[in-house]
Amino acid sequence: MASTSSATGLTLTPMTTSKKSSGTRSHDAPNAVALSKFMSKGWAPTPLEGVQQAPVVPFCENRRATLSQQYQGVRLVIPAGSFKVRSNDTDYRFRPHSAFAYLTGISAADAVPDSVLVLDPKKGGHEALLFIHPRSPRTNEEFYRNARHGEFWIGRRLTVDEAELRYGIKVKHIDTLEKFLSNKKRERETVVVRGEDSLVDKLVRLRKKKEAALLTYLSEMRLIKDSYEIAEMQNAVDASIRGFADMVKVFPAASNHQRGERIIESAFFGRARLEGNDLGYDTIVASGSHACILHWIKNDGAVKNGDLILIDAGAEMDSFYTADITRTLPVNGKFSPAQREIYQLVLDAQRAGFAVCKPGAKFADINRASHEVLARGLYKLGVLPVTPEESMKPEVGLHRRWTVHGVSHMLGIDVHDCAHARTEQYREAVLREGMILTVEPGLYIHPDDELFPAQYRGIGVRIEDDVLITAGEPVVMSKGLPTSVDEIEAWMAPLLR
Ligand code: GLY
Ligand code: MN
Ligand code: MN
Repeated sequence: MASTSSATGLTLTPMTTSKKSSGTRSHDAPNAVALSKFMSKGWAPTPLEGVQQAPVVPFCENRRATLSQQYQGVRLVIPAGSFKVRSNDTDYRFRPHSAFAYLTGISAADAVPDSVLVLDPKKGGHEALLFIHPRSPRTNEEFYRNARHGEFWIGRRLTVDEAELRYGIKVKHIDTLEKFLSNKKRERETVVVRGEDSLVDKLVRLRKKKEAALLTYLSEMRLIKDSYEIAEMQNAVDASIRGFADMVKVFPAASNHQRGERIIESAFFGRARLEGNDLGYDTIVASGSHACILHWIKNDGAVKNGDLILIDAGAEMDSFYTADITRTLPVNGKFSPAQREIYQLVLDAQRAGFAVCKPGAKFADINRASHEVLARGLYKLGVLPVTPEESMKPEVGLHRRWTVHGVSHMLGIDVHDCAHARTEQYREAVLREGMILTVEPGLYIHPDDELFPAQYRGIGVRIEDDVLITAGEPVVMSKGLPTSVDEIEAWMAPLLR
């Protein structure tokens, strides 16, 4: 890559994703030596006052101890990941790899690109080392010159000492990682989460099978949530419920706008930001027949009085835990008879799904229970050309014409959590206390579906709630948001006024 020399004699390299990047950009003027000298003096020390250990620390210690047990004598390297380019020298907002977040407890506020967690084997376990790009001192030009890392550009990062205190872990400067990993005297079997950090990938030998197994183990660890995770999930759900109320309040304004779906989308985002949160995934705001498009995130449609609107949205906490909730609501606050009929069928399917959310039942039973109800309902509506029993056979499945997605997935730091878990530990496994999952049946009748009578065409309904598996009855964490037709109409009326 071409470099230019500045008046200061410093080499200016155009921005790349490399951590070695100077972070200066082609459109920035070079620095004068006088300025450089001037910038290095006259700064008061500004340590963070009152840094305390984060409540997540003991939970992370337990999680790392579990991992350590499984990987005795093996060095594990789990990077946070780096910047992801959105366009040229502009990056997406940084979000660390979920395994890194899970094992360090790092918050969105403190997460720094290119950080790396190393579990280094020692007698009786592992020592956890967190390599970070810490706050740069005022003697280093980075603080005002580097658009990616500089304090004047992106804000203050934690110092090594502050990070150590807050996260209860030994912290080292990222610049020492290369030497640490290449030290021949300390050489030992090392397994990495590959593909997140180019430096780490370069330094550690490829072990395809072991790396895949590590990813699987890290995913399966997260199948059972600890009490910190359950509390954060409830916070995410509660924040999302407030966001749903805010969205309903703007339905009238949205009905008067060509791209009304975006007004509703922004209301949810506004609530999330207002409370200091983020989104776990792009909000789906699907009015009318857009509801039949499962991942409708364009959100550029009109919102019409008389239509249903399907909204799938989740607030993500600073801890990265996210809710995943869907409601399908009448834009004007009242369901039509055809809308009510399809809605009730989906609701019945969801309730059948809830009923099997108990330890001992299989994860796949949730799907089966909901689909049985949907298949029976579709048969009664006269559109299913085979009996529900026939349709439920895996080699038939005709009812799935109107419901092509699964009814459940694990939920946590990732919206589709534990995605690398083995089938026998997830899809074919029994449910266990402490799992958090969604129950989200849907029916989608596309506008051009000639098998359905005209009054149903273009109706898409999904109802999605977040459920904690307990020893007894499941806890529907999102039950604060109504689901029955009558409750929804009663809940919406004052919000639409
Ligand atoms: N929001 C994505 C999903 O429901 O799975
Ligand atoms: Mn979901
Ligand atoms: Mn969803």
